[in-house]
Amino acid sequence: MRKKMIAGNWKMNNNQAAAKDFVENLESWFAAEPAGKKAAASGEVEVVIAPPFTSIGAAVAAKKSKLVHIAAQNVYHESKGAFTGEVSLSMLEEAGCEYVIIGHSERRHVFHEPDDVLEKKLIATLESRVLPIFCVGEMLEERASGNAEKVISRQLDFAWQSLTSDVVGEMLVIAYEPVWAIGTGQTASDADAEKACDYIRNLAYEKFGQTASDSLRILYGGSVKPENSASLCSQNDIDGLLIGGASLDVKSFEKIIETVI
Ligand code: 13P
Repeated sequence: MRKKMIAGNWKMNNNQAAAKDFVENLESWFAAEPAGKKAAASGEVEVVIAPPFTSIGAAVAAKKSKLVHIAAQNVYHESKGAFTGEVSLSMLEEAGCEYVIIGHSERRHVFHEPDDVLEKKLIATLESRVLPIFCVGEMLEERASGNAEKVISRQLDFAWQSLTSDVVGEMLVIAYEPVWAIGTGQTASDADAEKACDYIRNLAYEKFGQTASDSLRILYGGSVKPENSASLCSQNDIDGLLIGGASLDVKSFEKIIETVI
């Protein structure tokens, strides 16, 4: 059984005060509200929040339970040195991060991070105590020209070329986020999201075998909201959701958690 992951990527939103309020509210929901208590008791869902770097400390400090996990939105693969503006894995670990998002479409397309750098980030992360949420997904024109699967397999071939089955099965989380669905309101249909996630699981099966592909968690992201989260998350190969806009409002984030248990 793969545990569902509901992850909120705040992007460049929520200062320290907002992060504190959000996490306190979420903790109270888990502790006192019927739906939150049910989610906590079920043990079926892992909740992750990815604040901007400067709000990580506030989010960690507001955590009371082990129900909320904190992720960073990016990392650099070197351990220290003259890399102005970058943050290392040991710094993330020290700050209280358990996960890090790597290769988000905005890192790939706004900041032009190439596949080979993302591979280095993934490998460095897997050598640390922080776990990676590695993002893949095609752009609209790539989908329109029938190349969506080719793009996904290129991104993954690069990223996991030197990984072993154990690592893929036990440590890796993949997020399929079609670029055309991010922040557009154009959610992928359940069938399209499932088709892509099934494709990713098959790639994992071909390269790493049955055990690894069976336990690999694959998330869908792109215009997820409380109205579509349940059906997306109930697809065979979708093990959770990576949520942008709808994760900024704590009530809608809680609603999404509620819909998937
Ligand atoms: P939206 O949910 O705002 O479309 O963003 C998705 C995303 O990029 C999460 O990483």
